[in-house]
Amino acid sequence: MSSIIFDAKAAVASAIPEPPLSALAHIPGTDGWPFVGNTLQYVVDPKGVVERFAAKYGTVYRSRVFGGRSISLLGPEANEFVLMDQARLFSSTHGWGRILESLFPRGLLLLDFDEHRLHRKALSVAFKSGPMKSYLENLNRGIASGIDGWLKTSPDLRFYPAIKQMTLDLAAVSFLGEEIGPDVQAVKSALTEMVAAIVAVVRRPFPGTQMYRGVKGRKFIVDYFGRQISSRRAGDGDDIFTQLCKATTDNGALLTPQEVIDHMSFLMMAAHDTLASSLSSFVYFLMVNPDWQENLREEHEALGLAAGEPLPYDLLDKLSLTEMAFEESLRLIPPAPSILRCAVRETEFAGFRIPAGARVNIDLLYTHRMPDVWPQPEKFDPLRFTDQAKRARHKYAFAPFGGGAHMCLGTHFAHMQAKCFIHHLLTRAKILPAPEYRPEWKYWPIPQPRDGLQVRLRSMS
Ligand code: HEM
Repeated sequence: MSSIIFDAKAAVASAIPEPPLSALAHIPGTDGWPFVGNTLQYVVDPKGVVERFAAKYGTVYRSRVFGGRSISLLGPEANEFVLMDQARLFSSTHGWGRILESLFPRGLLLLDFDEHRLHRKALSVAFKSGPMKSYLENLNRGIASGIDGWLKTSPDLRFYPAIKQMTLDLAAVSFLGEEIGPDVQAVKSALTEMVAAIVAVVRRPFPGTQMYRGVKGRKFIVDYFGRQISSRRAGDGDDIFTQLCKATTDNGALLTPQEVIDHMSFLMMAAHDTLASSLSSFVYFLMVNPDWQENLREEHEALGLAAGEPLPYDLLDKLSLTEMAFEESLRLIPPAPSILRCAVRETEFAGFRIPAGARVNIDLLYTHRMPDVWPQPEKFDPLRFTDQAKRARHKYAFAPFGGGAHMCLGTHFAHMQAKCFIHHLLTRAKILPAPEYRPEWKYWPIPQPRDGLQVRLRSMS
């Protein structure tokens, strides 16, 4: 197993050689400390380090993190240049591969260009409105009963661990179907270990390390999914796994079992932590902005549904204030703060030559708070997302779901889950902060409240 994993990693690393320092010397920046470069600064305070480097070097700069040099491109124009990638200059395979290839090889984000297009089209069937309606039924059931449990047993809760558990439970049903049964715990644990291993410091699976547990988790997931593919193909489940087992490419061929496995494990990873992070920041901003919490509650009550009643798919579009407030929390705390690519050919941006092989990243967390684009950037103000305000801004000033060919395939799913969650929460309870409470946010490896986010829920019934 480990040799498969690390051969794949070597293939990614070797395909496009990194340019030497001399080829990047014209770009302002720093190599940081010997051996570790800027890695420690980045891990401790990714938001602060980007702000400091931007102030010192400008919106195009180089640094050295996780063993390689990287060029950061900041601002809406940089987002558009890299994400739209009209000229097919940027490889996602070789950008994300260094981090994700060991545990999530050949997930959709790790494919490039024509091959990526082919697979993305095949996977898209799982996100059409028919299947989405059925996922929403599961979400409604799982969220209503989860919130009921919180209100009965732990109305003063640490929100982040609680929502992580809930999103994992919800994902198990939406992704794998109701019939998953007793295996659910093993699947959840394996996935949790794989996700934790993405940022493991020791990158080889030595016994006792996180990478070892991640590799073991992947082996379990590969076997588990692999065993079920033929029965799923014959069945009529409306979960994502069954949809992928039946998905076909343009020429009508089914995805191979290995492709189904790789896409499934990547999808579950892509959905899990991002949803837990975004629902935590959403709840946090509503907790500390009670006027907006009340505005959203009124919007949900105006739907005329009884508390705890499922939110129907057809009413999702009526929740425009909820949508705006969710977008504002994604602006302030984007769950994927930066996006990685590798230049496959030499190019130029803002007058700087970018050599082939250079790692490139765009930073959403920074761009989402640029004061010349976002007046009073630290203020939570959902009115930034009225249609009129959006039209007046650069289209790529806000990109929490990326854009272009790799734009998040789960964008609609994430909005739907956020609306469903907030519907059940706000129609059942008030969200109150503990007195004088101001949680700190940390941004590595994924944005989350440092202390787990103390939340007091007060039932309204
Ligand atoms: C608030 C929640 C989420 C956020 C902020 C988010 C963010 C992103 C971003 C920024 C990308 C693009 C990365 C890049 O271009 O390098 C992406 C890709 C992706 N996301 Fe999400 N995501 C979220 C939820 C989900 C969910 C719920 C799913 C699945 C159900 C999902 C599945 C994917 C997939 C498959 C890709 C790769 C798309 C491709 O390469 O074509 N994401 N996501």
